[in-house]
Amino acid sequence: MNEITVKVRRYDPEHDTASHLETYTVPVHDGARVLHVLHAIHNECDPTLSYRYCCGSGQCGSCAVRVNGEPVLACMEEAHNSSIIEPLNLPVKKDLVVDLLPKLETIAALQPCVERVIPTKTEIDTIKPLRDCIECLACVSICPAMDVTSFAGPTAMRQEMRLALDPRDCGDRVPDAIKDGLFTCTSCQACAKVCPKGIEIPGKAIEKLRALANKRGFTLPRHQEVAALVKATGRSVTRIEPTFLEQVGDVLEPYGPVKAIVGFFVGCMYNMRLPQAAFDAMEVLMRNGIRVIIPHDQVCCGSPLIRTGQLAFLDALKSKNIEVFSSRGIDTVMTMCAGCGSTLKNDYTTPFAVMDINEVLTKYGIEPPARLPVKATYHDPCHLLRGQGIRDQPRELIRQVVDLVEMPSICCGSGGGVKSGLPEEAAALGKRRGEEIQKTGAELVISSCPFCEFHIAGHTDKPVKNITTVLLEGYQEKDRKNNAPTQT
Ligand code: SF4
Ligand code: SF4
Ligand code: FES
Repeated sequence: MNEITVKVRRYDPEHDTASHLETYTVPVHDGARVLHVLHAIHNECDPTLSYRYCCGSGQCGSCAVRVNGEPVLACMEEAHNSSIIEPLNLPVKKDLVVDLLPKLETIAALQPCVERVIPTKTEIDTIKPLRDCIECLACVSICPAMDVTSFAGPTAMRQEMRLALDPRDCGDRVPDAIKDGLFTCTSCQACAKVCPKGIEIPGKAIEKLRALANKRGFTLPRHQEVAALVKATGRSVTRIEPTFLEQVGDVLEPYGPVKAIVGFFVGCMYNMRLPQAAFDAMEVLMRNGIRVIIPHDQVCCGSPLIRTGQLAFLDALKSKNIEVFSSRGIDTVMTMCAGCGSTLKNDYTTPFAVMDINEVLTKYGIEPPARLPVKATYHDPCHLLRGQGIRDQPRELIRQVVDLVEMPSICCGSGGGVKSGLPEEAAALGKRRGEEIQKTGAELVISSCPFCEFHIAGHTDKPVKNITTVLLEGYQEKDRKNNAPTQT
């Protein structure tokens, strides 16, 4: 037996005005789960501790709690010293017990058809990825759209899509899903990351329901305009100044020996709305031995269409992008837009590798920049953190140039077509992001996604910069101190 010390959030509505953290030290076996720790606290320290469990084996969903802020199943999560165990972010009844009923009531029920239908094996296989929900509500507890809208939530959308695929159900699921907030999802992927059953709700349910809605003419007007623009121009935004691609050459040679060669997938936003950030990135790459090949005939990756369920000419965009890079013999395509990177990695089948710029710079290493006397915070783009699993690399780069103060990784509200389709929701989430930035006391906000950078800039009085811009400023400061001109 080992001793383990954890903190548990306690709250009894009959006696407490606010919750508090209580520290407990209990003996547990090696490999004990969080649920074993709760049992030990209950049996040996305080029998009034309230928590839920039933199966003890990841099947019933009743034991979901937050451990160090992340929703998990207590019976499956290994217990670690110093962990903080709290209730899900839902109305608390007592201690770790939350009120599940109002959310469970929003989960759609089968509406049986008059005639008895037996699903085919193919239909059963299609339904399968959406069928395993254990109603733990971990996804609901973490969904940002539910915080600022009346969205019924990720598992309600999962159930709507599950029933839309089920021939035994006679409900009209698409209008129901729209009424329940289908278009409020920001595609942040938070629900997919915490689901103990690995259900990919954004891709397998929400985007699929949006595609069904599109077939029936229910796509939001603003999203239809974006699709029309992509169809007409190959780009999802309009040109307001000379674009990056109009100003840059086909190949950028590094200033020193070549360490690696990448093709650059620019993305609509860096090409047409934030070209200076793309030029800053090129400067940092050239300074660090990366040869950059830039096909000028590349087009939108299709992310705005996939997220909003408009798939009619997606294959044409994919084929074009794959052809322009593979015809130039490029082995590695580099993205600097988190949304493009996530799309190329997760929605394409490519004959080349795809790397985000943070991966490229940390893989091949960078010349140390001068340190800038700035306290900065970093916003994790959802499509970089959860879409591509990239967390440490941006931080490794940022810490080389400024002091980094962390803030919670929450969605800024710019994704999933929400900024264009439902601007009030995007603004509410942006405001929340701005408040978190304010709490850090940082003088600068750094990110690595044009959608996030553009959106957050409207919700904070601090400057918002791309990682590569800050690195370049570090190099400029270094050159100034050494009296050497920065190469441009
Ligand atoms: S992707 Fe994000 S916004 Fe959409 S349902 Fe999941 S948690 Fe909610
Ligand atoms: S979809 Fe996953 S996270 Fe959400 S309630 Fe079901 S099992 Fe839990
Ligand atoms: S007790 Fe059933 S899932 Fe944890």
